[in-house]
Amino acid sequence: MAEAMSKSWNPASWRSKPIKQSPVYPDPAAVTAVETRLKSYPPLVFAGEARNLKAALGQVAEGKAFLLQGGDCAESFAEFHPDKIRDTFRVLLQMAVVLTFAGALPVVKVGRIAGQFAKPRTEDNETIDGVTLPSYRGDNINAIGFDAASRIPDPERLMQAYLQSASTLNLLRAFATGGYADLHNVHRWNLGFIGGSPSGERYRALSDRISESLAFMEACGITPELVPQLRTTDFYTSHEALLLGYEQAMTRVDSTSGEWYDTSAHMLWIGDRTRQLDGAHVEFMRGVKNPIGLKCGPSLAEDDLLRLIEALDPENQPGRLTLIVRFGSDKVGEKFPKLLRAVTREGRKVVWSCDPMHGNTIKSSTGYKTRPFDRVMKEVRAFFDVHRAEGTHAGGVHVEMTGQNVTECIGGAQAITDEDLSDRYHTHCDPRLNASQALELAFLIAEGLRSERQGASQTPLVANA
Ligand code: PEP
Ligand code: CO
Repeated sequence: MAEAMSKSWNPASWRSKPIKQSPVYPDPAAVTAVETRLKSYPPLVFAGEARNLKAALGQVAEGKAFLLQGGDCAESFAEFHPDKIRDTFRVLLQMAVVLTFAGALPVVKVGRIAGQFAKPRTEDNETIDGVTLPSYRGDNINAIGFDAASRIPDPERLMQAYLQSASTLNLLRAFATGGYADLHNVHRWNLGFIGGSPSGERYRALSDRISESLAFMEACGITPELVPQLRTTDFYTSHEALLLGYEQAMTRVDSTSGEWYDTSAHMLWIGDRTRQLDGAHVEFMRGVKNPIGLKCGPSLAEDDLLRLIEALDPENQPGRLTLIVRFGSDKVGEKFPKLLRAVTREGRKVVWSCDPMHGNTIKSSTGYKTRPFDRVMKEVRAFFDVHRAEGTHAGGVHVEMTGQNVTECIGGAQAITDEDLSDRYHTHCDPRLNASQALELAFLIAEGLRSERQGASQTPLVANA
């Protein structure tokens, strides 16, 4: 079957497949005109960069590195600001430092950023006070305002999303290589409002130790001039490949390899609502050579997952496929071991990443969509426990977070309550961890990684005994 599929792939072959979550535009000719324009615009990323990320994720699949993927649930035009990009970037850097230093593993950093606009929705319509309108689907499709005109899909929004992605990526590249990410700045990344929190304090203590180590290394002659990794970092971008017309327009042949790459981001993923084996999204994604992700929710059966893996990664290449599991803290213990065992039994070399956000969304007593931070932590703990029991590598996490001091997820060291949610609830879609909660989570993951390593180092001792 996979063979029959692979013969006929081209960047437009998804168009003859059934599609879910696709907006209905009032003027299809206007959509085609925008897509034609986009096809002539520069790629946002290069194929060689996507290959580098695939190689780095290959290391994760082999148990030698950890994937940190995070950012907004949905980027928006209104919230577009350099300070916000910087703050998200620096919290990801802080988390990566905690994981690298405390977990003692290289960290592959991937932002949900510079293209994360389109949102799959459970309901096609939204009703408020008896008025029903089409749902908001992300700023690259329609507008969030609750009036009929805002909710009409407008293809010109794709152009704005492209331009915002390009300029976001430009700033991220500057941050990653222009000195901001220099490890000597490790103290400066502690944002003002988390500085005094327990995780901020822990971070300060850790950055003191890093600074000491750097001073020692410099005294030994290991300087940033000799070792550029101390000065710069690799940072990659990703988003859900939901709006396939846009993704197709950004898909180009790489002149080096002759292969197709989706140049809208380094990594793309398939959402939990659009992962049908014979559907348009799987068809499109199987043909591009980028590293890709697949969201795996509670409704995914082992056999279906194995068929999807065969379709998306027929050559079993480490780094090609990241399985992003998102069951919810109440279901992870039952569902996850089944999938993990099936995939391991088949000898599939995938990255396992934990999305502890999307299975843990509830409505607060005050009417907000929220996520209890203790459930987020619980799902991450369970993810590590299952891997430890199975002897496999907990490869990564996928989180919705921001560098802003928002009040969107309840709990954490700041003990955000249902009543606090209205203070700074800014998300355009799902509730995000704020900087302090994100850092707290990083310390938990570092513990998980440490215990995974200790487990591994004990195995040969037992075996030798
Ligand atoms: C998301 O990552 O924002 C999302 C919608 O996730 P999922 O497809 O897992 O529900
Ligand atoms: Co989300």
